[in-house]
Amino acid sequence: MKEDDFIVSKTDTKGKITYCNQIFMEFACLQESELLGQPHSIVRHPDMPKVIFKLLWERIQNKKEIFAYVKNLSADGGF
Ligand SMILES: Cc1cc2nc3c(=O)[nH]c(=O)nc-3n(C[C@H](O)[C@H](O)[C@H](O)COP(=O)(O)O)c2cc1C
Repeated sequence: MKEDDFIVSKTDTKGKITYCNQIFMEFACLQESELLGQPHSIVRHPDMPKVIFKLLWERIQNKKEIFAYVKNLSADGGF
């Protein structure tokens, strides 16, 4: 990852991916057509504790921000 790289994705209210930038696709090792419309858990890494996502959903449903580091899975088995 380069210093100025910024991973961006957007979802609908159900967590389906509606947008992701080029860097996101590179790190996921997936193409846009493989990501759009998929649940964001497509990149979920088993090391991530469930409680983080529970908190994430609670916060955004209450229109609050959340700042968290997330380890994502790449389609090539990396993260
Ligand atoms: C805007 C947004 C971005 C998200 N980004 C990620 C992410 O990068 N990685 C991830 O594993 N889950 C992300 N999630 C959470 C997933 O929707 C999902 O809750 C999580 O992967 C756990 O899967 P589960 O809810 O099926 O247990 C994001 C959710 C939203 C609303």
